[in-house]
Amino acid sequence: MYKKPLIVFEGIEGSGKSLHISNVSRYLHKKKIDHIKLREPGGSLNSEKIRKLILNNKSNFNKDTDLLLYLAARSENLVLLNKYFRKKVILIDRFIDSTISYQHYGLGVNLNLIKVINKYLLKNIKIDFTFLNTVSKNNMIKRLKLRKSLNRYDKFNESFYQNVQKGFLKLAKKDKKKYLIIDSNLDVKTNKSLIIDKIDKLI
Ligand code: TMP
Repeated sequence: MYKKPLIVFEGIEGSGKSLHISNVSRYLHKKKIDHIKLREPGGSLNSEKIRKLILNNKSNFNKDTDLLLYLAARSENLVLLNKYFRKKVILIDRFIDSTISYQHYGLGVNLNLIKVINKYLLKNIKIDFTFLNTVSKNNMIKRLKLRKSLNRYDKFNESFYQNVQKGFLKLAKKDKKKYLIIDSNLDVKTNKSLIIDKIDKLI
């Protein structure tokens, strides 16, 4: 494993990925391990502008436009990724697997198109490890209800998110060594320590 890995947190709405990435960032901070934490869409200044456009409840782009906007946001993030890849530990809240799972498995956008553009954008940037957070349908519904405000991508029907989650799991099965599946229906403390144990091995 590389000394400064690129680590991704994936999962559908309510799966707890953002909680876990923040916890890992705090842990690295305490250990004085230089790292950056990004999110997609978003991260860099320009990418955050594109995020607002995509997720705005008043937007009604078609699925291909959405794909191109998510990839445009990624393209802007690559400035930061290229700058820090292998120089600092990089934590990302969502990355390529989100695009494949939401746009292809969820919305039916052509998979090859996604792969070709990602390959062009990423070049030598490689993901070292992914924590895939999963959640049951009922817990997802409960957790979404607790949110103060919902964005455009929080409002699909339940079966959409089930298809997206199945997509994530399919991707994880293809390369088992590079994924740890975190079942967010289980005790959060146990999950936090499972993740930190793995982080200790990765860094
Ligand atoms: P967030 O709420 O975790 O910040 O994610 C924003 C939404 O964007 C979430 O519903 C997943 C979606 N998304 C895609 O559909 N495709 C992508 O490539 C990315 C990065 C996110």
